[in-house]
Amino acid sequence: MQERWTAVDHFVAGHFAPPDAALDEALLASDAAGLPAIHVSPSQGLLLSILARSLGARRILEIGTLAAYSTIWLARSLAPGGRLVTLEVDEAHARVARANLARAGLDDVVELRLGRAADSLRRLEEEGSARFDFVFIDADKASIAEYFEATLRLVRPGGMILVDNVVREGAIADGASPDPAVQGVRRFHERVAAAPGVAATTIQTVGVKGYDGFTLVLVAADREARR
Ligand code: SAH
Ligand code: DHB
Ligand code: MG
Repeated sequence: MQERWTAVDHFVAGHFAPPDAALDEALLASDAAGLPAIHVSPSQGLLLSILARSLGARRILEIGTLAAYSTIWLARSLAPGGRLVTLEVDEAHARVARANLARAGLDDVVELRLGRAADSLRRLEEEGSARFDFVFIDADKASIAEYFEATLRLVRPGGMILVDNVVREGAIADGASPDPAVQGVRRFHERVAAAPGVAATTIQTVGVKGYDGFTLVLVAADREARR
């Protein structure tokens, strides 16, 4: 089925995601530097963009930059004057990302913070960071539950959190899986279910990236009042 899933993604991208110099060059540079091709697909980039725009996002947080492919989709979707903070632990990835962002003309609206995401999230809280409208969680899957908890304290009421790669070829349904990524995703679902004032769903997807899925979390507009 992979061939069909890929063909459909190409059909969709052919209509809705025309060739784009900055995005195409970002992927070429990523590949040339030997980074893994685990960026979002064009169809998924469009979804990120549509969600950010529908929220009128002025502040976006991304956890897991890689070569800044998804970052470019998101940063272009900011409302005028908006800013994006992206967290990356790998120095080589960050170097490629910074060059890609500069080439895309986005280095003035994107702040890349190098370090473990858990540390950077704590620092954002300590700094009393302004709330984010939209958060994209796409780093190490074993820590998704912890990133979600930290993110809940950083997102504004009415904001949204999108978490990538939560289905993992269906492994999410296997409670006995020894894979820390699967256990991380399962623990994340428990935390979401227990969190007051959020609505969430997990959607399974197929496409160029195989069989996977994402969780979309809406933080209720009156969440603060209910705590
Ligand atoms: N969002 C990107 C893909 C990210 S891939 C895109 O769609 O284009 C996941 C990234 O998370 C990798 O670059 C990896 O180095 C980074 N990462 C892994 N563990 C991390 C951690 N503990 N803190 C911050 N980043 C981490
Ligand atoms: C992996 C990470 C991702 O963010 C992704 O979209 C696909 C795979 C990974 O770590 O294998
Ligand atoms: Mg991903």
